[in-house]
Amino acid sequence: MAHITASVYTSHVPAIGAAMDLGKTGEPYWQPVFQGYEWSRQWMRDNPPDVIFLVYNDHATAFSLDMIPTFAIGTAASYQPADEGWGPRPVPVVQGHPELAAHIAQSVIQQDFDLTIVNRMDVDHGLTVPPSLMCGQPPAEHFAWPCPVIPFAVNVVQYPVPSGQRCFQLGQAIRRAVESFDEDLKVQIWGTGGMSHQLQGPRAGLINREFDNAFLDKLIADPAAAAAIPHIDYVREAGSEGIELVMWLIARGAMKDVAENPVSVRARHRFYHVPASNTAVGHLILENT
Ligand code: DHB
Ligand code: FE
Repeated sequence: MAHITASVYTSHVPAIGAAMDLGKTGEPYWQPVFQGYEWSRQWMRDNPPDVIFLVYNDHATAFSLDMIPTFAIGTAASYQPADEGWGPRPVPVVQGHPELAAHIAQSVIQQDFDLTIVNRMDVDHGLTVPPSLMCGQPPAEHFAWPCPVIPFAVNVVQYPVPSGQRCFQLGQAIRRAVESFDEDLKVQIWGTGGMSHQLQGPRAGLINREFDNAFLDKLIADPAAAAAIPHIDYVREAGSEGIELVMWLIARGAMKDVAENPVSVRARHRFYHVPASNTAVGHLILENT
């Protein structure tokens, strides 16, 4: 059977991708950001997953105001990095896992979550920056991400957006779906976006360290309490783009301790840094015990 081994949480700031692509990671501004992921890159080498289920949001790249799926699962064999205005990032094409993705779609829809099924889409920084942070740039002689990735896009751009509670419950359904797949696969689930940031209006540049750190504490030790945060609180406290944090609750809901008490998760790594572009960078790795 497939099973979820760990969850990873990380911001997906596009300027982080640009810093890597332009060879700026050693600059004083960026060095402390990338230092926070050095441990994680070793952890990825030590704990290689067979598949990554990557929860992210599209930023009006694959979708637009023409069509706004709340939850969309990628069932394609591959996904091209998107051109976001400066050309596509020089990162590998993302290889999908159509069999597991189709199984998860079947199982989760039967568990009453209505997913949009996407057979073709390009993936923007929301999806490509997290593997860049976690894996570094793959070598030219083997230019590929370490494993297949199932993209799972959540609408956090155009209101109404899904609640944290809904996302947390969806994570639980995804865990049941993975565990009913008849192949022995180690699956990591990643929740991306956040932490506090606001890109527009009079509050542009807003950062809230206190909220972010309280969120990290809750996410680790009391995820049900984190899931109960109403969406208006994210916007007030963490800025208009801070709402991206609801995606972390999908990953958290898929961890074993949520379904089985008393099981605990192990927080293997925690990192927080301000600033990266307009954003507070947060990062966590939780393992099932
Ligand atoms: C920034 C952060 C984001 O999450 C995003 O999607 C775009 C820009 C930023 O901090 O610049
Ligand atoms: Fe974003």
